[in-house]
Amino acid sequence: MTPDYKMQVVAPFSPIIMKAEAPLSVVTALNQRIDRIVAEKSERQSREWGQHLAGNLSAEVRMTDIIRAMPDLTDFLYDVARTYTYRCENVLLNYSGYDDTEELKDKKLEIQIKEGWANDMVAGDFNPVHYHQGCVYSCVLFLKVPDDYEAEFQAEKHRQNSVGCLQFIDSRTAVGAKNLFMVKPVVRDFYLWPSWMLHCVYPFRGAGIRRSMSVNLAVL
Ligand SMILES: [Fe+2]
Repeated sequence: MTPDYKMQVVAPFSPIIMKAEAPLSVVTALNQRIDRIVAEKSERQSREWGQHLAGNLSAEVRMTDIIRAMPDLTDFLYDVARTYTYRCENVLLNYSGYDDTEELKDKKLEIQIKEGWANDMVAGDFNPVHYHQGCVYSCVLFLKVPDDYEAEFQAEKHRQNSVGCLQFIDSRTAVGAKNLFMVKPVVRDFYLWPSWMLHCVYPFRGAGIRRSMSVNLAVL
């Protein structure tokens, strides 16, 4: 039996990423709305958001007003962002000697949607390394992948399979910590991270659309 060395993991500096699954109804509603935007020239032009973004993409359209008007979506975003905040704070508070962190649940925590946009990528599109300014959290919801994406992903034999993937980058490396973290897009999968964290999206080669929605959040 291991002696009681009072061992505990202390991870005050580790950036934490939250993964969740968005409701199917939200994904369906978003896809229907984005399909209408990209098919309608004047709305697509009025919502063009590419000049504000790092991406090299076929379409980046502003969605902030649409996101704010979808209660199921805003509830989902607020729930995940609040839970993320509470869990991060609990990790620190527990180490600081707080026995009871229930107080956090009563704390008023307002999550604000700063801006959101949809990203449509076709073969060859990519999003170079960047981070998001003017917010606390950033998040992505995967809405569509090309029909043959899985086959293309499985056929990729390079040591680091990056086909159509999102990658997070942290400059440090250590035992038990990655400095590169690859995320394969899966429809309904949602990730939330500290907005300063560098990330990029790699291209794919097949036909079809890879669609995601990005949202920047503030915590008040
Ligand atoms: Fe981004």
